[in-house]
Parts: sequence; structure tokens; C-alpha cells
Amino acid sequence: MSVLTLTGLYVILSIPVKLLLLLLSYPFVGGFGRKYKHHLGHSLRLLLCRTGLMVPVRDCAYICIYSNEVLLKTIIKILHRNYLNKEKLNDYGKRYDENSFWIVKQPDIKKNDPIIVYLHGGGYYFETMPSQIESLLAVQKLLDPSLRSKVSILLLDYKLACRGYTMPNQLNELHQTYKRLAFEEGYTNISFIGDSAGGNLAVTYLQYLKLVNEKTPIVYPNKVVLISPWVKVAIEEHQYAPGNSMYDNDPIDMIQYRAFHDVDRAKAIVGPSNVHSLLISPGNTPYKHDDWTSIPTLSSPTSDILVLVGEDEVFRDDVLTWAKYALGVPLYGKYKYGDSEGKNLNKLTYIRKSDEKSAGIRFYIEPWGVHDSTLFFESHLLRKLTKNPKLTIDALDQDEFFGITRIVKFLNETLT
Ligand SMILES: *[C@@H]1O[C@H](CO)[C@@H](O)[C@H](O)[C@H]1NC(C)=O
Ligand SMILES: *[C@@H]1O[C@H](CO)[C@@H](O)[C@H](O)[C@H]1NC(C)=O
Repeated sequence: MSVLTLTGLYVILSIPVKLLLLLLSYPFVGGFGRKYKHHLGHSLRLLLCRTGLMVPVRDCAYICIYSNEVLLKTIIKILHRNYLNKEKLNDYGKRYDENSFWIVKQPDIKKNDPIIVYLHGGGYYFETMPSQIESLLAVQKLLDPSLRSKVSILLLDYKLACRGYTMPNQLNELHQTYKRLAFEEGYTNISFIGDSAGGNLAVTYLQYLKLVNEKTPIVYPNKVVLISPWVKVAIEEHQYAPGNSMYDNDPIDMIQYRAFHDVDRAKAIVGPSNVHSLLISPGNTPYKHDDWTSIPTLSSPTSDILVLVGEDEVFRDDVLTWAKYALGVPLYGKYKYGDSEGKNLNKLTYIRKSDEKSAGIRFYIEPWGVHDSTLFFESHLLRKLTKNPKLTIDALDQDEFFGITRIVKFLNETLT
């Protein structure tokens, strides 16, 4: 029988110590990072996630003690009993296939009604966190009523690297579910929302579909939301130098260079697969425009892509580089970042309407944003919506809920 490693034990035991130190120093020096300097709860959560991600991959099998099924049917039901009772999401928590559960399935769903597949993040070794489901539910709640009554949402329940399911197992599981939706059941209106490792899954799956499509033409996803997508799995040493996001944001982000530069961690996630592959890590493969412009989701005038990334993320430069080649977002290398002072400067946004050669693109850098902030630091919106179900998107603070407000607007304006 295997047990927790010493490193794992050390990291886990260091968590309460670190949180206590933050608690004690907060009144004097403020919280963690820049955006949450004056928000103790968010600062503690950020430090918790940052330290938790340092736990060795295999040890996470002892931390991730609940399944996605338990998360939906028990944990979220206990935490949000009132909300779920009131909203009555049809088929909530019901299994769709071996690898997925409905968050909501419209009772009279038609083949061309929108289905969003949610691909959760967590480095491929953490299970979905309650906050990720909470933010997703908040997005669903805020959609325009006419759209909301049509949208179904599926949670992909892929197997984790901490239990030995290394990449690209998750790609194969997504394909099983996607195949069933698109090939077997004939749904034609499929979108992805993916954060962090889920963003990696969304992006690599587009490459995967291109290979499948050579044999059988199929429907591509037509709207894709990427939140801090993990596009470069193996960090290179030269990235850890002043002037690069990997170095500059290392002390303040959820992700640390030390964790993700670690060879053992990479091995435990990637397994025997070659990291220099578009199906594993686009950022570790020399970028070519053609690899991406040949994907209908990125080149069709009927598709739309939304990308959210934080100014204070270590992965910021990786996401900007990917977006330059894959989406033609001309920000990387053109501007310096890190100096926004928390304000929404013009250089943080790039929007392009679709044309005959390209999908519509919305690319947002969140001022002082950290990794995956939408799903970890905006989830308290669900409580607000429980108290005040009539809240609309216009009444929300667009900085506090930077990601959720933009995702709702994106879906509302493009899924029509
Ligand atoms: C959603 O978009 C439609 C049309 O694009 C607009 O009429 C409506 O007001 C929007 N609703 C919200 C909640 O933003
Ligand atoms: C997807 O669903 C939306 C909302 O019902 C609809 O307006 C749109 O035409 C659908 N797209 C496709 C490709 O069927």
C-alpha cells in the first residue's frame, strides 16, 4: 500500500502555518497578491490554492477524496440547497455517459440547441472545486432568459493524473463524450468552457478533432471560452528571468515556477507522452499559424472565441504567445504588461469581429488578475444571486466579477 510522501506531508502541514502567518500579518501589510490586497478571504484562498498545487501529484489522490458525482449531488446540494431548490435545474447531477454529468439539461432539448461542455481545471490532478461549479452556475443564471431556457451544460468527469491517468487519457475521455453528443445523438451546437488544464483540454481537442475529421467530417465546437488556458505544459528555464511573466509574477500568482518546472510533477501529469506535441502542449511545439487556421472552430465566421488571462499570472506570456499564433491576437511583444495599476487600460483588451477567414475573438487581460480568477475568486456571486435572484449583469461590478460578466456577455451575444 502506498502512503503520502514526506514532501506531500510537509506541504500539507505547511498550509495551516502559512495561512496563520498571512492572517497575522494581514492588518499590517495586507493580503496576498495585488488584486486581493484588501480582501482577506480571497488572499487566504489564493495562498491555499498556491500551496495546495505544490503537493506532489500522486499525493493528491489522498486529498481529492470526493468524486464529481459527490461534489454535485452532495457538496453543492448542501452548500446551495436554497438556490438549487428554487432554480430547479432539470437533470442536475444526472449522468450523461461514463465520463460526464449534467449541470442542467433542457427537458425538451432540440438537436440545434446549445450544449456547453465544461472542462474543469486543476492541473489534471485535482478534482473540480466547489467554487468552479458555483461560478459556472452563476454564469448560467445570468444568461438572458431566452437563451438560458435553451442552454444545457455538461460537466466532463475525466480521470485524474493523481490516480495514474496521465495525459492524454482526458483527451480520449472527452472524445468519447463528444462523439456521443455530436456523432451518435446528432447535436450540432456544442461549445466548450475550459479553465487552466481544462483550457489545455479544449485547445488540444481542437487539434485532435482535426485528425479525426480527416476520416469522418464532423461538427466542431462553435463557441470556446478559455480561462487561463494551460497552453505550455513544460516550462523552459529561460522563461524564469526578469521581464517575463514567469519570473515577475512568480511571487504573486496561484501558480509557482518551482511547482511546474519540477520534472517529477511533469512526469506524473504527462506520463510517457511526448510533451512536444500539439495534442499535449502546443506551447512546447514550434508555433505555426497553419496548425491553427486549419481548424474550423478558429477560422469559421460562425465561431467565436473568448480568452481570459490575468495580468499577474505566470502563464500570461504563454497565453499571449499562443493567442498570437492561434488567434492572430497581436498583443504579445507589442506591449509590456504588469504596470496597469489595476486599471483597465486599452492594451489589455483585443476584440475582433468575425470575417470570412476568422472566428470572432474577444481577448481580455484582467488587471492584476491571477490564474483562473473567474472560477476561484468570483464564485461568491452565486450567494448574491441566491439572495437577490433578480440581479442582472448590468448591476454587477465588472472588476470584481471580471470574468463572469465577460463570459455572460460573450455567450449572450454570440450564442444567437
Ligand atoms: C443579450 O443579448 C441580446 C441581443 O444580443 C440583448 O437584447 C439582451 O439585452 C442581452 N441580455 C443581457 C442580459 O445582456
Ligand atoms: C445555437 O443555439 C442558439 C440559441 O438557441 C441559436 O441561436 C443558434 O442558431 C444555434 N446554432 C446552431 C449552429 O445551431
